Amino acid sequence: MNHLAKPYRNSFFASLAVAGALALAACSGAPSEGPAEEPPLTGATIGGEFELTNSVGETVRWADFDGQYRIVYFGFAYCPDICPNDMSQLARGLKALEKSNADKAAMIQPMFISIDPERDTPEVVGEFVAAFSDKFIGLTGTPQQVKSAADTFRVYYERGEDLDNGQYLMNHSNIAYLFGPSGEPLATLPTDLGADAVAEEIDKWVN
Ligand code: NI
Repeated sequence: MNHLAKPYRNSFFASLAVAGALALAACSGAPSEGPAEEPPLTGATIGGEFELTNSVGETVRWADFDGQYRIVYFGFAYCPDICPNDMSQLARGLKALEKSNADKAAMIQPMFISIDPERDTPEVVGEFVAAFSDKFIGLTGTPQQVKSAADTFRVYYERGEDLDNGQYLMNHSNIAYLFGPSGEPLATLPTDLGADAVAEEIDKWVN
């Protein structure tokens, strides 16, 4: 088991749902005028400043993407199954959006952030993301930089099982986030439902 069990994710989102319900209750006195649907993560404290390194060794900060929508996924390049699958659904979802709405797709910067800085050098994350898409940037950093970024994005990770070949797994949450042009969280992307569902969700919140 190298990824989070569902109950953890469910309780995480249940707590977000409670926050949402409280916000609704606070607004119940307002006249109902059929407001536009709000992105599900509106107001959530997820994401923010980081300082990391891209695949060619340049320093990259969250603020560098001001004005752009962003997809953020944390994982590790040596992940045998779930990270590659999630990355594939995200890359294919973006490709589908490129076909249906190229202007929207061009507004989005997708990024993969390593939670395995010991093995994921800039070169390794670069090769990893390039296997899925030429749009994704791969980011890594010092163990401290990675820990700080993961905390800011509410991502859990720890070293997992040792393998017979001397390698090891990482336990980590696998959530793909969509952020808006001011770095505000908008939604999670349903990689478990496939590329079309991912494209649909992005299309819904990118305007
Ligand atoms: Ni993984």
